[in-house]
Order: sequence, then structure tokens, then C-alpha cells
Amino acid sequence: MQIYRARVFDTPTDPFAGGGLRSGSDVAIVVDSGRIVARTDFATARERHPYAEVVDLRAGVLLPGFVDTHVHFPQVRAIGHLGRPLLDWLDECALPEEAKLRDDAYAAGVATDFLTGLTSAGTTSAMVFGSHFATAVDILFGAAAEVGLRMTTGLVTSDRNLPEVLLTDVDRSVAESQQLIDDWHGRGRLRFAVTPRFSFSAGPELLAAGGALVADNPGIWVTSHLNENRDEIAGVAEIHPEALDYLDTYDRAGLLGERTILAHNVHPRDRELARMAEAGAAAAHCPTSNSALASGFFPLGRHLDAGVRVALGSDVGAGNGFCLLKEGVQAYFMQQLDPAGGVPLTSTHLLHLATASGAAALGLDAEVGDLSVGKRFDAVYVDPVAGQPLAVGLDYAESDEDALAKIFALGTPADLTRVWIDGEPVKG
Ligand code: GUN
Ligand code: ZN
Repeated sequence: MQIYRARVFDTPTDPFAGGGLRSGSDVAIVVDSGRIVARTDFATARERHPYAEVVDLRAGVLLPGFVDTHVHFPQVRAIGHLGRPLLDWLDECALPEEAKLRDDAYAAGVATDFLTGLTSAGTTSAMVFGSHFATAVDILFGAAAEVGLRMTTGLVTSDRNLPEVLLTDVDRSVAESQQLIDDWHGRGRLRFAVTPRFSFSAGPELLAAGGALVADNPGIWVTSHLNENRDEIAGVAEIHPEALDYLDTYDRAGLLGERTILAHNVHPRDRELARMAEAGAAAAHCPTSNSALASGFFPLGRHLDAGVRVALGSDVGAGNGFCLLKEGVQAYFMQQLDPAGGVPLTSTHLLHLATASGAAALGLDAEVGDLSVGKRFDAVYVDPVAGQPLAVGLDYAESDEDALAKIFALGTPADLTRVWIDGEPVKG
């Protein structure tokens, strides 16, 4: 049993629906076997649990673990290419790197780099875009099991418009996916997601094969891309003339539901937003990626007005880093700059988007997303070096919301000195 004594910020109530920041300057979080069993003042916790180990975190700030709802495993070594729109970036930067994961030793190295990137950045749960190679996905599952990450991932499938080595067909994709489901789905913190790359590289039969997997394996997840770039959207309309719009390519294949997360949705139609809300699907907003690829401004207000759930994704490697603090502040910038008028975001909104919203999108909100009694202890300790701007900022912040804004503005993975998943340290 441990007592974590800290300044704690979390968002158990939704700030987009009238909730606010929950903050305490000296909170005792009592953890037993990875579960939060009490949240009180230190004197009470000490009296009730005199033999518990005390972890003194009063020098910094404790936050819930971050939840990344869209991040690509095979792209960790391809972060940072600039100056190309989506389809050129895929051809010239991402896909040549992804082809290298055919080699198992290479894939194992990438899995290590990828998981280090996530946990170092304070990410404790993630919806991960896997690889086109089943063996590489198997390697990733094994490596994530060792680290303890709460991970949902799957075999990426495509049957056109990509380099030959990355293509599959209906029978192979179903056989390989089913094997991965049987081997990994529901094992510890791991789950499987049907993952067509996007409807630009997957025809109706391949998408429908994914829908059949969902029907045959209740409880598995679905992830893909949606409405990211205007050239992509035009291509999807040509490949899928039967579909009402981009979203409908997934819907008619049986891929749209409460366990579906679709990345980007920068250029949605109103019908698509209404249908996403009706189906309970979530959008993964990836602001550094949208900026790097000049994909456009994410219409957050339209999503919220339509009742579509939204969370944050790093979209590594189009996104330029793993840390959701950076994604949060970039989301803020883009809402400020949107010529169509954005949503004015506070630091409390950013924390909610990076934690509780992601947990809800992943159906993990009963377990993680904030530091309430009954939840698992997934947490990040922000402890900047004394004298650095973030440390100074925390000392001189005028309010807890101001302190949290400084964490988003100035925080980097180097400031996240300790990270826990289920009460187990994964960093520090
Ligand atoms: N659409 C299809 N594949 C990708 C990808 O790897 N990254 C992004 N940002 N969009 C995609
Ligand atoms: Zn992506």
C-alpha cells in the first residue's frame, strides 16, 4: 500500500458541460494493489494506514496518466518530416518506413522505441495504429504486455493505393486478424482493434471483412482515419461511389459504433457529425499533425454541438512528438486561430481532453482518466528542474488553472519525471 502525497490536478467532471478543475495542494491518494482506495488529507491517510509507504511528491504536480487516442507504432522513426500534404507525406516519408517492419528484428527495435516514446511522455493508455505486418503487431503486443501499457491496437489493412508490400486481401486479413484476436484481445490491458488504414486504401470488400470480424468478436475495437485532407476525400468518393460520404464507407461495412475511434475529421459534413454522434463513435483530434500536414482546422465547435465525443491524439509520426501536453497547447492555438471561429479552450479543457475524454473514448472511464477513489493509479508526476521556466512558473502561478496552463505551455517529457500504470512505475 502506498500514500502518494502531492499537489493534484484532475477533471472528473466535464468542463465542456459545466464541470471544472479539481485541484488540491496537499492531497493523499492511497493506493492498494494499483487501485485508489482513498483520497483524503495526509493526516487522515497516515492515521488510517500507518504502515503504508509514503511517496512524497509535494515538489511538483500529480496528473492522471495521459490517454493518446491516435498514434502510429511504425512511425516513431519517421517523426519530423515537414512541408508535405498528407498523400505526399505518406508516399515519401511514412510508407517507406512502415515497409521496413517486414523485418522482425527491425519491428522489435521500433516497438521498444515506440513504447519508450509513449511512457516517457506520460501516456499510460493508447489506441495505437499497428503495422501492415501481422508479425510486427504480435511483437508490439508482446512488448506492450511487458511494459504494462493499456493498449488497443490491430493489424492495419489495405488492398490498394499503397506500395505492394503493404497490401493484403480479404482472406489473409481475416485469418491474420483472427489469430491476433485469439492470442491477445482481452489479455491483461491489451485489446484488438480492426484497423483499415483509410478508405483511400481499402475497398468495400476489405472494409466489410473488418465489419464481419467485429460481428464475430464482440468487444473488439475499430479505428481508422476520416476526412483529413481534401485530395484524400475526393479519392475516397471515387473508390466508394456507393457511399453517401466518407463516414458511410465505414458505416455500411459495419465498422461504426461506440467502440470506434476515427482520427482527424477536419472536413466533416453535417450528416457525418450527426451520424457519428448517433452511433457513439469518437473523433481523435490530432492538432500538431493537422498543422504539420496543413490538413486544416479541426471544427471542434461543430463536433461538440453535434454531440460527437472528442479526445486527443498525437498522430506520431505526422504529429511531431508523443507528448499530449504539446497536443493540448496546439489544440488551443488552432482554436484561437481558426478563421471560422474556434472554441476558446482553458487549461482545464486541455487536461480533460488529454485524460478523461480519451479514457471515455476508449471505454476505459470506469478504470482511468482521473484520480478518483475506485480508479486504477495511472499517473504522471510533473517535477521540473528548479530554476527552469516551468518550475518558476509553478512557484509564481496566480491560480491552479494558471499553474496548469504553464504545465501545458512549458512542459516536456523531461519534466515528467515519474509515470505509473496500475500503480507500477514505468518511468522514474
Ligand atoms: N491516413 C492514412 N494513413 C495515415 C497516416 O499514417 N497518418 C495520417 N496522419 N493520416 C493517414
Ligand atoms: Zn494517423
